[in-house]
Amino acid sequence: MTPPLVTIRELNSSLGGNAILRGVNADLARGSITSLIGLNGSGKTTLLRALLKEIPYSGRVEFHCGHDHTHPIPRHIGYVPQKLRVDSNLPLTVRDLLALALQSRPLFFGIPKAVLDKMAAMLEGVGASQQLLNRPVEKISGGELQRVLLALALEPSPELLLLDEPAAGIDFKDQDSFYELIGRLNREQGVTILLVSHEISVVNRHSQRVLCLKDGRIHCEGPPREIVTGEMLRDIFGAGVSVFPHDHRH
Ligand SMILES: Nc1ncnc2c1ncn2[C@@H]1O[C@H](COP(=O)(O)OP(=O)(O)O)[C@@H](O)[C@H]1O
Ligand SMILES: [Mg+2]
Repeated sequence: MTPPLVTIRELNSSLGGNAILRGVNADLARGSITSLIGLNGSGKTTLLRALLKEIPYSGRVEFHCGHDHTHPIPRHIGYVPQKLRVDSNLPLTVRDLLALALQSRPLFFGIPKAVLDKMAAMLEGVGASQQLLNRPVEKISGGELQRVLLALALEPSPELLLLDEPAAGIDFKDQDSFYELIGRLNREQGVTILLVSHEISVVNRHSQRVLCLKDGRIHCEGPPREIVTGEMLRDIFGAGVSVFPHDHRH
């Protein structure tokens, strides 16, 4: 068994006076892809935000890697959020978005060539066109935005990559190539990944382990073949669920 990169023990978190995470225990094996599934509102995004130290929690989150764990902003974690809130009145280009992340000085100083070269390399690394740099973030497609956000999450190179429903709202063709890219990053660079997804076929194909959250607790966990069964999914998602992609209708 691969030793865990992250151990989570008795993690509790309350938001707005409500207990959202209630005694979460989980391990994320080093170099693995773990899927996190559960109904809307079960606490998936909250769990990712706790790992990022964005919200207060009690309990233990231990990273077994050489990074400084006490740093308030965990630089060894990459994060692709569920939603990006960009003000459509603000004409922020992809170049500006990347520049704001890469340099700690105001944009009006301009962007040095070394930083522009870095941006080009970042986009190339996620199979995105450099022509995106001139486009307003608001105007690019969902698939293009996911790649730009992934490029940001990969800089600096993370030990752990958190993906919160990264392909929701993008078309099937883009989804497929996005998950191929994720799989390659995992295989070739050994990045440990925690992936929130509702796509049962994605969970099956790309993850080695599945964690199911229900009402802020880990309700079940195991390899996809044990978890992604009709019975288990009905238990997690309720009786109305239909499990088309992996139904064995022989
Ligand atoms: N900042 C907040 N204040 C109060 N309640 C919140 C806050 N953020 C999330 N919640 C609540 O926490 C629960 C879990 O939310 P979330 O982690 O986003 O679920 P999921 O990602 O599984 O859909 C929901 O009931 C949500 O309304
Ligand atoms: Mg969520």
